Amino acid sequence: MTAICSTPNVDTCRELGATTVWDRTHQPLSGMPQRYDAALNFGAWQDEEKLIGALKQGALGFASTVHPLLANFDSCGWLAGAWQTRSDLRRCKALAGAKGARYGWVVFKPEDEALDALQRLLREGALALPVGIAVPLSAAGQAFDRAARQLPGRALLLPSAA
Ligand SMILES: NC(=O)c1ccc[n+]([C@@H]2O[C@H](COP(=O)([O-])OP(=O)(O)OC[C@H]3O[C@@H](n4cnc5c(N)ncnc54)[C@H](OP(=O)(O)O)[C@@H]3O)[C@@H](O)[C@H]2O)c1
Repeated sequence: MTAICSTPNVDTCRELGATTVWDRTHQPLSGMPQRYDAALNFGAWQDEEKLIGALKQGALGFASTVHPLLANFDSCGWLAGAWQTRSDLRRCKALAGAKGARYGWVVFKPEDEALDALQRLLREGALALPVGIAVPLSAAGQAFDRAARQLPGRALLLPSAA
């Protein structure tokens, strides 16, 4: 399993089980070998086509959580945004299809069973959630600022004490 990340996260990816790490800071994604059976993009939409290109012929599929659905509505409006989204989806489906692979966009929804499983894994130490800042809702600006500056660790908003 290959993980793609920037230099500061190379060790973390190895600790989390990656057998190979592709450091995107030093190695362009366009240089990846075309050898993957399946891929998941949860990094950046602008890398989508390069990553589809790394699937091997006869690959199983490609899934993306960073699809441009909402960004297209924001930048183009409802009608043109829907048209742009349709064209983005068709283009990527065709690229993956040319390798024989299925292609899909992921939309998360809260699910009790999945959240319980995550909580269990956290308790068991099999997962970690690095927290960069935890502030009450009244200080949300600080959390958004930290996320915007892409500083390490999650930004958590805590419910105010009653
Ligand atoms: N589809 C859905 O329903 C859904 C739901 C939740 C989140 N999302 C999306 O899923 C993505 C991941 O969520 P997250 O909470 O894990 O986001 P995050 O904390 O911002 O993590 C994104 C990671 O992607 C990597 N990355 C790769 N290319 C990047 C680039 N060009 N610019 C910035 N970072 C890049 C970075 O790690 P390295 O620097 O190590 O590469 C970064 O730590 C986000 O884009 C989010 O919007 C989608």
